[in-house]
Amino acid sequence: MLAVIGGSGFSRLTNLAVEQRRRVRTPYGEPSSELTFGRIGRQAVVFLARHGDAHTIPPHQINYRANIWALAEFAPKGIVAVAAVGGIRADLQPGDLVVPHQIIDYTSGREATYHQLPDGVPRHVDFTEPYDQPLRQRLLDAAVAVGVALGDGAVYAATQGPRLETAAEIDRLQRDGADVVGMTGMPEAVLARELDVPYAAINIIANPAAGRGGSAQAISMAAIEAVLADAMQRVRAVIERVVSSND
Ligand code: HPA
Repeated sequence: MLAVIGGSGFSRLTNLAVEQRRRVRTPYGEPSSELTFGRIGRQAVVFLARHGDAHTIPPHQINYRANIWALAEFAPKGIVAVAAVGGIRADLQPGDLVVPHQIIDYTSGREATYHQLPDGVPRHVDFTEPYDQPLRQRLLDAAVAVGVALGDGAVYAATQGPRLETAAEIDRLQRDGADVVGMTGMPEAVLARELDVPYAAINIIANPAAGRGGSAQAISMAAIEAVLADAMQRVRAVIERVVSSND
């Protein structure tokens, strides 16, 4: 079984033949939404809406530990995380899709580990390669198979939000080597690593990051939503292919 976490503009997996919705409790509280179990073709999938079913939970208030724990309880072969981002690298334009390969974490104050007192034991997970390479490759191969353009590699900067960044902050992220910026990639990725669940992401460029291109003056949420609605069809095609090629 594969797990999918849907982000902004992606709160349902159409084509998922839903078999069961389950509310799951974890030692860390409740996940953002019920888990939806179903099948695409013959393959089992579990889906979680990161911001809740009605998209009410902002990035800094998501219970990432409960979300990842809840999915991990069903021992998925991997978690595919879908998330909207701002594009920093000039060639990443609204509507483009990319599979990031690295992360820089600028978030603060989030519950970002299972390994702490009183219940956890100290453990320093290796995070040199934050995304699972075989799962990344499966996403890239699936995109080729369904004829969807999906970029290979981007450095993902995780910001705290919920506000968008200043132009100077984006200049700094660019100097740091970031290609895209989003608010939910961390601690999601590291929590999956702590539980040994392979994790990879598809990022949808929703807007040029602050101070870039069409966002030189301001970022319009309406424009972001329009881009996401269109891009989600392509994301769905890739995910359906990955799921159906799952053994
Ligand atoms: N910044 C941070 N997160 C985002 C953006 C952005 O420009 N666009 C979509 N998510």
